[in-house]
Amino acid sequence: MSEKILVVKGSCRKGSVTNHIWQDALNSVEDIEISVFDAFSEAFAFCNGCNFCEEMGRCIHRDLDGFFKDFENADVVLFSSPVYNGGFSAPVKALIDRFQAYYTSFYKNGKTQPIKKKRKGILLVAAGRGGVVATEDMQKNLKCAFTILNMELAGTVLCANTDTVPDLEKAKEDLKIILKRSLSDE
Ligand SMILES: Cc1cc2nc3c(=O)[nH]c(=O)nc-3n(C[C@H](O)[C@H](O)[C@H](O)COP(=O)(O)O)c2cc1C
Repeated sequence: MSEKILVVKGSCRKGSVTNHIWQDALNSVEDIEISVFDAFSEAFAFCNGCNFCEEMGRCIHRDLDGFFKDFENADVVLFSSPVYNGGFSAPVKALIDRFQAYYTSFYKNGKTQPIKKKRKGILLVAAGRGGVVATEDMQKNLKCAFTILNMELAGTVLCANTDTVPDLEKAKEDLKIILKRSLSDE
């Protein structure tokens, strides 16, 4: 059975560097099922800490049910995001906040993983300038979320200096290596 990759698309910009890099890397992998969640075009609700999930065991909103199904079944989830003001683009951050229902489930059920399948996550970042500190912060955010999502961060790729001279080829190669490694060591 072919492995499943879910891409969280965190830029809708024409000529987006992140989109160019992940599209190129995915073209290099054979026999995979790819689904893409376009965080900018999906008008999903924000988590506002209403605590419905704590009471009822699921989010009050059903608008991400399709995404969560893909998310739970994926072998690899690729989070791609530009650096916007030192962190994720707003829709990607809002998506990460919507993992709250998994968080409440994890603690309510004695730290039992709410998702049965162990998955790998990859972070792809583009930054107009250096982006190192922002990428470290984004990594920290994801690693924290991953503890309650039965995931581990398999690798991070930063394509810096997109305002001037980004090294696109290196970013593409780095992502291909991480992707192939993530798919091979089950
Ligand atoms: C609202 C906004 C905020 C940004 N903030 C930063 C920033 O804090 N640091 C940085 O290095 N680049 C920043 N940038 C530049 C983007 O990270 C850069 O253009 C990146 O290539 C965008 O990703 P994309 O090419 O995939 O769309 C910002 C761009 C926008 C539109």
